[in-house]
Amino acid sequence: MKRTLVNETLLKIGEEVKLYGWVDTKRDHGKITFVDLRDFTGKIQCVGQDKMSELTTESVVEVMGIVRKRPQNLINPNIDTGTIEVEVGSYKLLNKCGELPIPVDSTGYEIKEELRFKYRYLDLRRERMQKIIRLRSKFIEGIRKSLFKKDFVEVETPILTKSTREGARDFIVPSRHFPGKFYALPQSPQQYKQLLMTAGFERYFQIAKCVRDEDTRSDRGYEFTQLDLEMSFVSEEDVMHVVEEAVVSAVESLSAKIKSKKFQVFSYKEALEKYGSEKFDLRTDKEKEDGVLAFVWVNRFPFFKKVDVKDAAEVEDSKSGYTFTHNPFSRPIDEHLPWHLKGEHIEEILTTQYDLVCNGYEVGGGSLRAYTEDVLRSTYKIMGYSEGEILGSVGHMFEAFKLGTPPHGGIALGLDRLVMLASNEESLKETIAFPMTGNGKTSVMDAPSDVDPKLLSELGLSISS
Ligand code: AMO
Repeated sequence: MKRTLVNETLLKIGEEVKLYGWVDTKRDHGKITFVDLRDFTGKIQCVGQDKMSELTTESVVEVMGIVRKRPQNLINPNIDTGTIEVEVGSYKLLNKCGELPIPVDSTGYEIKEELRFKYRYLDLRRERMQKIIRLRSKFIEGIRKSLFKKDFVEVETPILTKSTREGARDFIVPSRHFPGKFYALPQSPQQYKQLLMTAGFERYFQIAKCVRDEDTRSDRGYEFTQLDLEMSFVSEEDVMHVVEEAVVSAVESLSAKIKSKKFQVFSYKEALEKYGSEKFDLRTDKEKEDGVLAFVWVNRFPFFKKVDVKDAAEVEDSKSGYTFTHNPFSRPIDEHLPWHLKGEHIEEILTTQYDLVCNGYEVGGGSLRAYTEDVLRSTYKIMGYSEGEILGSVGHMFEAFKLGTPPHGGIALGLDRLVMLASNEESLKETIAFPMTGNGKTSVMDAPSDVDPKLLSELGLSISS
């Protein structure tokens, strides 16, 4: 007999069905046992005469029985299948659930993070987490649909790569074939996506895992996901338009509320003057209560800033005391290109960078790019790099720029942050199936962990402390 899903039972009154799922709740009334069976489509009451009393909550069962209409006075308006129940003929206990280390029938906020992550597979069973993870999937589906409609191609880029210098420390991976040498995990697909423009794809996107060793916060993790895209022969407005359409259609597919489908644009200067910050919130108090999403663009950022000596990655990235504010691969605005090429008025040079802000969070950032050698060389010169250091860092990009790279631009959206806002949560961790703790301990599996000394010696490594 084929499986029936819980939400299909309403159409099967009087018929025999076979259901699979978890014991959501169990109540024993003498000879009769009531079990609410839960699958991914909903819950239904199953009634057992002289059976099922051995079941524990969260056990996995197969239930065979007849779908019956409930008498009027026993209808439960709180569940979709409240007008019916299953009269159990037989059942099989497929996996008995032992004592639960954490409850799964609450919101979960009250449970210690360490315990939630250790038993994340249980934590994810709770209704709130099921909703968020499913919302995340729907959101990605919405973005993908919108981009495929516009002829974008989805391309994967390498995970084992060379440092991409996006302003954070790298996570590095030792190489067995080249002892003493290391790969870096990508801080973003920035350079590869630009090379895909050289390769003639013209419209690329990727749901890209990015890894950055920077201090974690509620809106910042070591590992996160970008909706990364790049386009050739475009203006800033072209990229912004594509993003607006993709974000609006994805948000609408979640039935979330959006303040305005046309996102206002503020220059960095205007944002500071008007709101005192480049990450501001346009919502009224009422809109905040209603969970409305308010998107705005901020553009015309300074290209460079003085290095923050407390920031290790910034100190590392700069040799002159100046570093990029957003992205070394950006192109300055046309009016400031002469300054940029001559290394003059450094603090006044504005870049084509545009950030997408939502409810006070930076949820995306992109720009038009340097696609000729002189512009990218100037950026690194302003940061104080010698010719040798420049070639070591971006020499491969110079080569591509001499072999027919079109003008291009793009953006990356922080998927975790967008899902966090769309689901009205306050931490990225609530939106990730298997998140890390603040200091980088993984869910369920115990990493980082020791490795076999044999493996270390194969890699030519030894631990000094
Ligand atoms: P950027 O570094 O601004 O740009 O990253 C793009 C977006 O990714 C999100 N984000 C993060 N989310 C969670 N945890 C983090 N540690 C984290 N870091 C960034 C933010 C941010 O707006 N290559 C460029 C993009 C481009 O120019 O196309 C880049 O990575 O929402």
